[in-house]
Amino acid sequence: MTNDTISDDGIDIAKARQRHPKAIEMARRGLELVRTKTTDQAPAVHEQPVGVYLDPARFETEVDVLFHQRALFVALSVELPQPGAFKTLEIPRFPLIVVRGQDGVVRAFLNTCRHRGSSLVQGTGLTRAFVCKYHGWAYDLDGKLRKVRAADNFGEPGCPGLIEVAAAERYGMVFARPRSLERDPSPIDVDEVLGDELAGQLEGWHLNLSEKVHAATVETASNWKLAVDTYLETYHFATLHKTTVAKTNFSDHAPFDVYGPHSLTAFLDRRIERLADQPEDQWRPLKHVQMVYVLFPNTIMTVMQDHVEYSMILPGRTHAENSMEHLYFSFPDFHAEDVHRSRFDNTQWILAEEDCPMAEEMFRNVEAGVLQTIRFGRNEPGLQHQYGGYEAALAEAARR
Ligand code: FES
Ligand SMILES: [Fe+2]
Repeated sequence: MTNDTISDDGIDIAKARQRHPKAIEMARRGLELVRTKTTDQAPAVHEQPVGVYLDPARFETEVDVLFHQRALFVALSVELPQPGAFKTLEIPRFPLIVVRGQDGVVRAFLNTCRHRGSSLVQGTGLTRAFVCKYHGWAYDLDGKLRKVRAADNFGEPGCPGLIEVAAAERYGMVFARPRSLERDPSPIDVDEVLGDELAGQLEGWHLNLSEKVHAATVETASNWKLAVDTYLETYHFATLHKTTVAKTNFSDHAPFDVYGPHSLTAFLDRRIERLADQPEDQWRPLKHVQMVYVLFPNTIMTVMQDHVEYSMILPGRTHAENSMEHLYFSFPDFHAEDVHRSRFDNTQWILAEEDCPMAEEMFRNVEAGVLQTIRFGRNEPGLQHQYGGYEAALAEAARR
């Protein structure tokens, strides 16, 4: 490793990351949890009715309240490194294009041609304009309708361009709110979305200095929340991941904090106890702590010593399907392509072969009507907080 990432204002980014105060705090708390053989806990066991996974009306409300009305994390800035770089997101009923304009500003639009509704682009890419494949209408990167093919024959198009939705970029992250600006013109305030404490913490990771190297998508036949749940506790490591994650990570010892609806769980490396023999000012905590952030409601972003990765879970067309996009970004001070490749492949294998099949299995069982309720333990505070967040958001929307 070399410390070759000095910021414009002279900060040694690699060092700043490795000595991030929150990582040091989580290492300190993690050591204590391991020493005392316990974990951060919720006050009581929570019994969760399974209707939240099965009710189609509830699903529609969740999509509206959690995925359309809220500002969602949609990308790291480095996914859109230059003007014309775009990515698409299949949010139910609001398929989005997120694109960096010629002026460097990130904007988001519905991925739907104003002529007759074709999608304009798929996946990710780089373009100078969005040209519809059906009849060739062209839109500028700022969404303006640039050209109607055979305009003399077509007549007056009657629309200025693509339907724009709110987007904002800060701390190396991009957020968008899928509702059209016409319906909700308020700008997104990223500090308000995250809260000051979490915003400050995420700023300290300098996510802008990372590089996308790998990506994959897993489709799962389960309710979207069950796919999110796979990240929300470490209790299952020793059993479901006995031969994988549990080889390197502690099960059931994890410091946990909340930031409004968001949360942070630190996954602890089994060798964390080595830190006990070192003075704290010499710690490199990220060797032993993985910072697992939940950006409510559907993105889990993990910062590790040599990279950051995130999984974004999006509901499918019904309550019974979802997709998980898993992206991996290397930090430039760690030049080890083969290490990054094998880390990504390992995590992807665990998601596809262990976690997502478990979500499907649970969904099949609750769908079959076997259980009316399931349980979130005191040692699963992340799950409890997440479901509390869903209920609070839905209750607040119902009051409006
Ligand atoms: S649907 Fe796009 S040009 Fe016709
Ligand atoms: Fe897991």
